[in-house]
Amino acid sequence: MDVMECIHTRRSIRKYQDIPVEFEKIGRIVEAGMQAPTAGNIQDLRFIIIQEKSKRVQIAEAALQQYWIETAPVHLVICVDIKKGKQFYGIRGERLYSIQHSGAAAMNMLLTAHHFGLGACWVGAFDEEAIKSICGVPEYARAEAIITIGYADEIPPRPPKFIIETHAYIERYGNRIKTFPLVIAEPSPVIEKHVRETIAAIDESTNTIIAKGVKKGKEFWKKLKNKE
Ligand SMILES: Cc1cc2nc3c(=O)[nH]c(=O)nc-3n(C[C@H](O)[C@H](O)[C@H](O)COP(=O)(O)O)c2cc1C
Repeated sequence: MDVMECIHTRRSIRKYQDIPVEFEKIGRIVEAGMQAPTAGNIQDLRFIIIQEKSKRVQIAEAALQQYWIETAPVHLVICVDIKKGKQFYGIRGERLYSIQHSGAAAMNMLLTAHHFGLGACWVGAFDEEAIKSICGVPEYARAEAIITIGYADEIPPRPPKFIIETHAYIERYGNRIKTFPLVIAEPSPVIEKHVRETIAAIDESTNTIIAKGVKKGKEFWKKLKNKE
């Protein structure tokens, strides 16, 4: 599976088969988390692998009674050593980078699980103190996310996702490219060239110009296609 397919076909899985996950795969998933970028490469994350049934039951309870969680044979608890971020980057390291680090790691782990044919879900709703106590997390560390892992026992539908032209802007917040889907749906150097040219002229009149450029590109693309 290539990376684009992996990103687009991954789903949050909340129902698992009662079969164990190979420890090698668990290790590879954790390793993928450790490959995520961290500010200044401080690598302040720590990972706890939970397999014991009694702990999984307690975790599900601490995760605001999301009982489906205990059906996942593996829980990976992502923790951050807060003092490390603080030492290197002060309050920004402690409050922002640490959270960004665990997010980046979580995403790598979800994708790696999917790559191995496993289901996974990011669990963020939990009582932090309860999770710390269940997993023996020291005072100077914070439990930031739990990733449930196991062989999926469901194929959830793709949840609705916004379309790119409503959430991606160009050059300035709020500046939409209405023709974005066209550009990404038909990857063509000709269209790209026209988009680039029009972006260069952005000061003149933003989206109207871009729309014109893409239209021109589209015509080129059609002509090329007709020639084939
Ligand atoms: C920060 C964060 C916290 C989340 N917490 C939970 C959670 O506590 N329980 C849960 O069932 N799903 C949780 N999710 C999963 C989201 O509900 C899920 O990603 C979203 O519905 C989109 O579905 P998809 O992952 O299949 O694209 C969380 C996701 C993120 C990023």
